[in-house]
Amino acid sequence: KIEEISLQKNMPFPMGAAINVSLLKSNANYRNLVIKEFNSVTAENAMKFASLHPSKDTYIWSDADYLVDFAVANGKRVHGHTLNWYQSLPDWVKNFQGTTAEWENLLKTHIQTVVGHFKGKVVSWDVVNEAVNEDGTMRNSIWVEKLGVDYIGRAFQYAHEADPNALLFYNDYGHEFGPTKRTAILNLVIGLKNKGIPIDGIGIQMHTRVTQTDANLTAAIATAAATGLKVHISEIDISLNPDNVQSMTYTTALGEQQAAKYKTIVQAYNAIPKSQQFGITQWNVTDADSWIPSNYKRPDWPLPFDAQYQRKAAYQGILDGVK
Ligand code: G3I
Repeated sequence: KIEEISLQKNMPFPMGAAINVSLLKSNANYRNLVIKEFNSVTAENAMKFASLHPSKDTYIWSDADYLVDFAVANGKRVHGHTLNWYQSLPDWVKNFQGTTAEWENLLKTHIQTVVGHFKGKVVSWDVVNEAVNEDGTMRNSIWVEKLGVDYIGRAFQYAHEADPNALLFYNDYGHEFGPTKRTAILNLVIGLKNKGIPIDGIGIQMHTRVTQTDANLTAAIATAAATGLKVHISEIDISLNPDNVQSMTYTTALGEQQAAKYKTIVQAYNAIPKSQQFGITQWNVTDADSWIPSNYKRPDWPLPFDAQYQRKAAYQGILDGVK
């Protein structure tokens, strides 16, 4: 029966969504759909540096704690996102004047305060997010500028010290663009592992588009799994309108193409060893709360639920991927 089906019941690995905490608080349809469909949650924004740590000696935990309490009350896993990123930094960090040692202390203090606060409740973290460029070079972020690229390994060590049980991920997008970026990402991750850095997994964001080839999507997952680390498809959405056509409307045909892409990705993920399947997390819950239409200022329908909280063809595509 259709009402007995849910992603969390019917899929053989954890299924998650990025959660907008204000919608979770205010919108019952949103909240009920999250309770029903998912068994893992990631904060869309509430655990980012600027949200948690807006000035040097101030931490604001309320939204993130609300999400964690919701998860505990409803039996959901919480994946933490993200301890270190070049975006969503507060002005005090962007303007921080300090020696190398002071920057190192800033990095360490932030990571250990946040991981320590959620210890035992947040089971896994995106420790470092998006440190690699599309051409395979390292991104020249404020962190690299102040501390050099070796800060990445230390970020993992700091997180591990604060919660030795937490699973630690390197998270990035573009694994499916082709071999250049993903080889650089995998080399970074394997390099950390070989140095004895506590890294448990790879987050493949998978912000992708309906025109991406099945070969690229499958290679993204298979090559990450070949490292032997856990693999989290951490932020999936599949754009139907990557060319920003303002007059586009959603059609049955587009929905079927999208369903086929979701199925391809889920099939490839289902084929990796069970012990490496951390789960699949979609970035946002429905087409109404997706970051894509507002960020790119275009109509788009990237998720398995429509703006009326109803299942789309893509939902069936996900279920079909494990048949
Ligand atoms: O909350 C403020 C509001 O007070 C202010 O008036 C408004 C004006 O710009 O901004 C609001 O903050 C925005 C925030 O989302 C909450 O809506 C930020 O500007 C905006 O930059 C932020 O965007 C988020 C983005 O990451 C940057 O942090 C998106 O919601 C979020 O979906 C997106 O998520 C990222 C992942 O973390 C990493 N991978 C890519 C993914 C998509 O870009």
